Amino acid sequence: MRQVWIPRIGGPEVLEVREAPDPVPVAGQVRIAVEAAGVNFADLMARQGLYPDAPKLPAVVGYEVAGTIDAVGDGVDPSRVGEPVVAMCRFGGYSSSICVASIQATRRPAGMDAHTGAAIPVVFLTAWMMCEVFGRVRPGDRVLVHSAGGGVGLAALDLIRWRGGTAFGTASSGKHAVLRERGFEQLIDYTQVDFAEALKGEVGLDLILDPVGGASWAKGLSLLRAGGKLACFGMSSNATGETRNLLTVLRNLWAIPWLATNPVALINANKGVVGVNMGHLWHETERVTGWLGEILALWETGVVRPVVHAAVPFAEAAEAHAILHRRENLGKVVLIP
Ligand SMILES: NC(=O)c1ccc[n+]([C@@H]2O[C@H](COP(=O)([O-])OP(=O)(O)OC[C@H]3O[C@@H](n4cnc5c(N)ncnc54)[C@H](OP(=O)(O)O)[C@@H]3O)[C@@H](O)[C@H]2O)c1
Repeated sequence: MRQVWIPRIGGPEVLEVREAPDPVPVAGQVRIAVEAAGVNFADLMARQGLYPDAPKLPAVVGYEVAGTIDAVGDGVDPSRVGEPVVAMCRFGGYSSSICVASIQATRRPAGMDAHTGAAIPVVFLTAWMMCEVFGRVRPGDRVLVHSAGGGVGLAALDLIRWRGGTAFGTASSGKHAVLRERGFEQLIDYTQVDFAEALKGEVGLDLILDPVGGASWAKGLSLLRAGGKLACFGMSSNATGETRNLLTVLRNLWAIPWLATNPVALINANKGVVGVNMGHLWHETERVTGWLGEILALWETGVVRPVVHAAVPFAEAAEAHAILHRRENLGKVVLIP
């Protein structure tokens, strides 16, 4: 098989393709011939040495794949061989072949190609946790989506609209036309305008999805109405360039509203703060697989509209990461073995 390795901390150029023997599925596993692997912001942060959950380097990262089952281990129904699937994996997704627990491989609906399949699990499950599990978006809810043009932002938009909520987004201005077309009610170019200023004086927000972190969380809290929740799911403000900058990390840690998010302060403000980390849900695989099934069913009805910004060959993996660093992507980047 072929894999994309992160040999050491560094810029996108450190990524390298290596050959390795094909894995053999053990009891309870299926092996997937990978046709596309999703690239996530966490992969970049792992390469930069900024992701606490990352495997020790050198490592193969990658949280999601789509492909076809080509072998099964003991105890797995042999008729699964030949089944088109999408799967989440605990790293190792940047591989042309991967073994995962049978339950983690979910049948890909008829008509869904592998590029689309690989663009779904991480971003839609993250959005699902925030909008469905924590946020419980209802008709009329007002939801602010940061990094609206990213994979998670676009996934969240689909779920918010499905539930009858109104979505506001922050994104750089080059993305606004497409995002408005897809259904955002209002877009704020956060590079030019302070989003808290732009939304001040409105009724207040019911839910904010914030992967930026630091000062952005503090501002978000001030925009919530009573009963509103801030969903924290990342610290992209730590990844300002292609390599890490420890001063930026310290500055962002300092800017976190530690005092305003303690339970007593939240009681008095009638606000909630929740956290989401898809990488810490492996003990809930059955539940997460159930959500993925619901998401795939919503794809069949047209509610879920995954966006593949680029499909990049393994040999150009550095470019796949660079696209995300340059913030060019509208939706997902996938790697092709
Ligand atoms: N906790 C979890 O389980 C979980 C799961 C998935 C993702 N996440 C986090 O959620 C965030 C977004 O993920 P995603 O998959 O939607 O990412 P993505 O597709 O790469 O999109 C990120 C977008 O965020 C904006 N952005 C803001 N700050 C940025 C920065 N410092 N570097 C690069 N882009 C930046 C850019 O849009 P503009 O041009 O508009 O600036 C960019 O297009 C990431 O921080 C990621 O780590 C967390």
